[in-house]
Amino acid sequence: MRNEMTIEFLSISENESLARVAVASFISQINPTMEELTDIKTVVSEAVTNAIIHGYEDNPDQKVRLSCAINGEEIEITIQDEGRGIDNVDMAREPLYTSKPEWERSGMGFTIMENFMDHVEITSEPGEGTTVHMKKQLTSTRALCN
Ligand SMILES: Nc1ncnc2c1ncn2[C@@H]1O[C@H](COP(=O)(O)OP(=O)(O)O)[C@@H](O)[C@H]1O
Ligand SMILES: [Mg+2]
Repeated sequence: MRNEMTIEFLSISENESLARVAVASFISQINPTMEELTDIKTVVSEAVTNAIIHGYEDNPDQKVRLSCAINGEEIEITIQDEGRGIDNVDMAREPLYTSKPEWERSGMGFTIMENFMDHVEITSEPGEGTTVHMKKQLTSTRALCN
């Protein structure tokens, strides 16, 4: 099957759970396993949190855009902000790198996204914003269980 959706919401942390649940609900159409669902909710949370706290630095009047597409058994998720952008994407992707150590950030958000998804592409322009595009092929074994 093929399907897609886009939602846009204000950059407030209360919307992190909205984003997680919206994606989980959307992809439930293709019967993901519990593990796949948990992993996907985690990566959505990480990327949306990054947009809110790093991209918009907690300015609540900005918008985060989230798109999700289903192509057969592959899902694609895009999280986009028009915030401050990332100066050095390679450095930002390094495990444990955080620009906000004083906030007790773990610096593991991008590493988690890379581990849980098959493909993570980060496009960012300082002063323009950041787009995180991720893909994952779901397993077909679940078809046997459902
Ligand atoms: N949407 C974004 N806008 C601006 N900077 C970002 C964004 N996402 C990530 N970053 C930068 O990349 C760094 C690493 O992100 P991440 O791995 O999630 O760690 P953490 O969020 O714990 O700092 C952040 O500290 C921040 O400097
Ligand atoms: Mg993070």
